[in-house]
Amino acid sequence: MKYIKILLCLLLLTTACQKTPKFTFMVGGSANALLYWERVTKEFETKKGIKIELIRLPADTEQRRQRIVIPLQAKASDPDVFLMDVIWVGMIAGARWLEPLNHYINRDNFDINKFFKRVIEDVDTFKHKIIALPVYVDGGLLYYRKDLLTKYGYHEPPSTWETLVNMAKQIQKKERIQNKAFWGFVWQGAMYEGLICTFLEFCASGNGGISFDPLGKIKVNTMENQKALKFMVKLIHQEGISPPNTFTELKEEEVRLIFQQGNALFERNWPYAWKLHQQSSLGGKVGITQLPHLEGGKTASTLGGWHIGISKFSDVKEIAWEFVKFVTSFEQQKKFVLELGWNPGRSDIYQDPEIREKMPHLIVLKNVFENAVARPVSPYYSQISQIIQRHINAALALKETSNEALKKAQVEIDQLFVYYGN
Ligand code: GLC
Repeated sequence: MKYIKILLCLLLLTTACQKTPKFTFMVGGSANALLYWERVTKEFETKKGIKIELIRLPADTEQRRQRIVIPLQAKASDPDVFLMDVIWVGMIAGARWLEPLNHYINRDNFDINKFFKRVIEDVDTFKHKIIALPVYVDGGLLYYRKDLLTKYGYHEPPSTWETLVNMAKQIQKKERIQNKAFWGFVWQGAMYEGLICTFLEFCASGNGGISFDPLGKIKVNTMENQKALKFMVKLIHQEGISPPNTFTELKEEEVRLIFQQGNALFERNWPYAWKLHQQSSLGGKVGITQLPHLEGGKTASTLGGWHIGISKFSDVKEIAWEFVKFVTSFEQQKKFVLELGWNPGRSDIYQDPEIREKMPHLIVLKNVFENAVARPVSPYYSQISQIIQRHINAALALKETSNEALKKAQVEIDQLFVYYGN
């Protein structure tokens, strides 16, 4: 009897010591986004009776990438699920760190056609397998103060960058009489990924871009891009409508706050700022539209957005898939729009009568996302981006001329291609 008791105790002890696999979700973003994810994970926990550990990351995309890559490189079983920026889905898939989803999709009759087809094909498919799903799509937009445009006799926001400069100069001058901190136009110019997004928009709106040439090399030093970069430099240093800290400090949140505090006429930002502006003291005074273009060009918005995927090393893949299904379900994506005002990756949400009534701007802007310009897809995108960021930022800081900056960036990118091969 004594032995049986000891044996029972040992058995109980080993069972208690056995590690129950935990489910971990890694996500970052602005404060309101993190609050949203807290609510979603709680809801999933209650519904499924599964405990989730939420690992909170910063908002900056590069910092987020580095934090996710470390455990993946070590083949760690956590995180099980994470969000990826559109620009690094390819890299993570290329490293074979993502669990292909086709088996789960087919088994559960999961309707993939409900998502933006182009996004699924261009971003979430790797070697004919679906390796992620879009949670939200982003595109650069122009926010403007409706009340100030009306006050100065304008009926519409500008459609060209040249008109934006003229309006901003005039209104900034007048508003500065009351408010010394007032700026015509605020945008992301600090040395980080967001700068690539704004640069690409200026370039593409004047028929330029960052793309592969017929030899498979990335071309950045073109006449059109030089023109665009000169224009960006001019906004700060000649026209004086963008603050001098544009190239040292301004990222998404800094830009949003300047505008939201009533200190700017125009703002370039992603859709996430819409709801926050509406809830602020500016309330109904804010308008939203597509970005202007350079004369002779057409409006261009950088394609951004975040995708959900399962780690190849997850030890709870079935739970992970349940969570992915939950996050991308119609109900959750609809709540996502109503709570955050962001553009969902599911295209069927845009047909929903309640969404059409409450969020009319999303419908208008659907076109922006369908035609947005993608950043080049490359396994070493991160290095390419860092080279371009460094030189564009140096041009904005007047440390290099625009021509020098693009020339140097091109030389470094070409060297990178020699090093890695195409
Ligand atoms: C947004 C976009 C993302 C982009 C980032 C740059 O989060 O969705 O694609 O890389 O901004 O700051």
